[in-house]
Amino acid sequence: MQHYTMNLTLKVWRQKNQTDKGKFETYQVKNISSEMSFLEMFDVLNDQLIKEDKDPIAFDHDCREGICGSCAMYVNGKPHGPWKANTVCQLHMRAFQDGETIVVEPWRANAFPVIKDLAVDRSAFDRIIQAGGYVSVNTGNAINVDGNSMLIEKDKADESFAAAMCIGCGACVAACKNSSAMLFVAAKVSHLALLPQGHSERKSRVLNMITQMDEEGFGACTNTGACEATCPKEISLTNIARLNQEYLMASLTKKS
Ligand code: FES
Repeated sequence: MQHYTMNLTLKVWRQKNQTDKGKFETYQVKNISSEMSFLEMFDVLNDQLIKEDKDPIAFDHDCREGICGSCAMYVNGKPHGPWKANTVCQLHMRAFQDGETIVVEPWRANAFPVIKDLAVDRSAFDRIIQAGGYVSVNTGNAINVDGNSMLIEKDKADESFAAAMCIGCGACVAACKNSSAMLFVAAKVSHLALLPQGHSERKSRVLNMITQMDEEGFGACTNTGACEATCPKEISLTNIARLNQEYLMASLTKKS
């Protein structure tokens, strides 16, 4: 693909803190390489702002390799931008043309309050994971019989692995008109429920995670599928069906 440079207009959401109303600010960036990543373009903009003695734009990022789930923002109204199955850190500037205007906003969901600018507080996800508790099965160590020697059907292992791909970025919540976290919770419940090691705390895990999800203020799932369509790791909606099944089974059979 041919390299090119571009001049762009950026409309970026600026918000000092959680209580500030916030507003869009417009910036110009020049000579942006088509080979840059989207976040590198933001680094250029922030250098520019610092040189002008202005406050740089706050945004979350860590691995910049699509692994950690830190980077999270709407780019032109889409969580993680225009590319399918992609995180914003893996979005490259060749997705845009010279002269374009790009609109950048933080996740919009009550359960993800804005900390500053594009950075939002996603600790609600951490509390859901925490509510799920730990796995008590002793999976052994390197010299004894360990968890890896337990035979697991290939299709179950594959499904579990696919669910474990969830990076907790929150795009599913951001894409959902109800701000539902069902795909996230479904992925976390599924990857353990599918494996024998995850069976011991299976019932308490799903019940506690759903209770915490509701307490955090996430909306209900109405099966629109926007979460699956937006997920950078293509987590399947079938995990939500499994979550519902796990929840029903646990609710009907739990000891009171
Ligand atoms: Fe880690 Fe984007 S910075 S997934």
